[in-house]
Amino acid sequence: LLMGIDIGTQGAKVLVVDPNGHTVATGSYSYDFDVPKAGWAEQDPKLWWQGVRESLSQIWDKGIKAGQIRGIGVSGQMHSLVLLDENKEELGNAILWNDVRTQNECTEIEQAAGKSRVMAITRNAVLPGFTGPKLLWIRKHEPQRFVRIRHVMLPKDYIVFKLSGIFSCDVSDASGTALFDTEKRTWSREMMAALDLPFSWLPEVHESQTIVGNVSQVAAHLTGLMAGTNIVAGAGDNAAAALGNGIYDEGSGFVSVGTSGTVFAPVNQLPSVSDDEMLATLHQFCHCLPDTWHVMGVTLSAGMSLNWFKNTFSDELYDAFLAGIDGIPAGAEGLFYLPYLNGERSPHNDPDAKGVFFGIQYQHTRDHFTRALLEGVSYSLKDCYELIKRCNVSIHDLYVTGGASKSPAWRQILTDVLGRGLTFFDGREGPAFGASLLAGLGTGVWNSAKDFPAFFDTVNETAVIPENAKRYGNDYHTYQKLYNHVKPLFH
Ligand code: XUL
Repeated sequence: LLMGIDIGTQGAKVLVVDPNGHTVATGSYSYDFDVPKAGWAEQDPKLWWQGVRESLSQIWDKGIKAGQIRGIGVSGQMHSLVLLDENKEELGNAILWNDVRTQNECTEIEQAAGKSRVMAITRNAVLPGFTGPKLLWIRKHEPQRFVRIRHVMLPKDYIVFKLSGIFSCDVSDASGTALFDTEKRTWSREMMAALDLPFSWLPEVHESQTIVGNVSQVAAHLTGLMAGTNIVAGAGDNAAAALGNGIYDEGSGFVSVGTSGTVFAPVNQLPSVSDDEMLATLHQFCHCLPDTWHVMGVTLSAGMSLNWFKNTFSDELYDAFLAGIDGIPAGAEGLFYLPYLNGERSPHNDPDAKGVFFGIQYQHTRDHFTRALLEGVSYSLKDCYELIKRCNVSIHDLYVTGGASKSPAWRQILTDVLGRGLTFFDGREGPAFGASLLAGLGTGVWNSAKDFPAFFDTVNETAVIPENAKRYGNDYHTYQKLYNHVKPLFH
C-alpha cells in the first residue's frame, strides 16, 4: 500500500492507496488560518503536524497496519514560509501563500537581482505570495527572528522533516520560492547571493519521486507509522493534484478549486517569455515528473470565497446551502461578484484588491448572492485560463478537480463560463492521491507514469449549455470592466 499526505490551507488529509489506485482508507483534520492583520495569513506549523497525527490515527482505526505501507509521499500548500532555529525548533508562525504583505519586498528583489535576471533564472515575476520576499520582510520587520533562522522550508517539507529528521525539498515546490532556477531544476546561488541570504538555509532539492529519508524511531512512536518506511520528496499541491488526475502530458490541463483556484497545464519545455507584462502573473514551475514543467494561473480566493460567505451568513452544510442556486438563472439577474478577498494574483497582481458584490436589487435573494459568488470565482478562473492561452499553450483535454468538481451546480457554472466541456473523476482526492503516486514511483511500484494502471480511464463529463455560455460570454466583459472601474478605490 502507498500513503499520500496533503497539508492544505484548511486541513490535513492522509490517504492509503492500493497498487490499483483504489483508495482504501482516508483520514482528515480541519483547521483554519489566522489573519492577524488585513492582508496577512499565518498558520502555526505545529497545527499541520497535529493534523497529520490525528489523520493517521483515523487510518489505523480503519484497520490499516503500518507494516503494509511501502512508501509515503507528501504534498502541501505551496510558497508558505516555515522557519526553524539552530535547535531545529519552529521560529514562529508560517507566513502563507495567500498573505500579500510583501509587495515592497517583491520590488526589492527585482531591483537587487535585476528584473530580467530574475525572469531568466526563476522564470517568474516575484509575486507577494512567493517565499523569497517573505524572508526579506522578516529581515526588515522582525530582525530578532531573522538572526535566529537556520533552516528555511515549505509546509510539506516540514512534515517530511517531522517524519524523518531530513531537510529536503522537491523541484515543483522550490519553483515557487523566487530562489530557484526553474529550467535547471536547482536552487539559484545567484538569487541567494543577490539577496544576501545564506545558501546553507536551503534544504537539498530533489526530483519529487526521489526517496529522501525514512520514518524515524521518534516519528514512528508519535504517529504509529513503521520506523524505516520510505518517504519521497513529494510535491507542491498543484503539481501533486495534477498527477493525481492524470495531468502530466502536454495538451492536457486542469482547473482546480481548493482554498485557491488554479488553471494548470503541463509543458515539455518552458515557453519563451517575450512579453513580461502580459505574462507577469503566469506561473512557470517544474512539474513533479522529471523533464516536465507546467504553466499555471492562480486566483487566491476560490473555495475560500464560498467558505467565507457560507460561514459568515449561514450555519447550513454545503449541500443545503448550495441547493437553492439551481433555481436562479445564469447571470444571477445582474448580480456580480469580484472574488478578491485578500488581493489577487493572476491576472492582476494586486494585493490591494478587495471583494465586491455589484448590481444589488430588490429581487435578489441569498441564493442569488451564492450563485453570483460561484460565477465570480469562475470568471476569475477564466482569467487564469485566458492567461495560459495567451502564452500559446493549448489544452485539448480540460479536467476539473476539487470543490467545483464535487458540486454539480458549480461544475456546470464553470463549464459554461469557460465555454468548453470539462472532464472529471468522481471522488478523486487530488493532491494526497498524487503524493501517493509519487511514493509508488519512488519505491518502484511503477517505473514511470506510463505504467500507472487504468485508474485514469473512467471519466465523467459536463457539457456546455449554449445559452448560459452566451450569457456568461457577455457578462465576463462586465466582470473585467468592473475590476478596472473599482481598482482606483482599493488601497
Ligand atoms: C499556488 C498557490 C496555491 C497554493 C494553495 O501558486 O499559491 O494554489 O498552493 O495551497
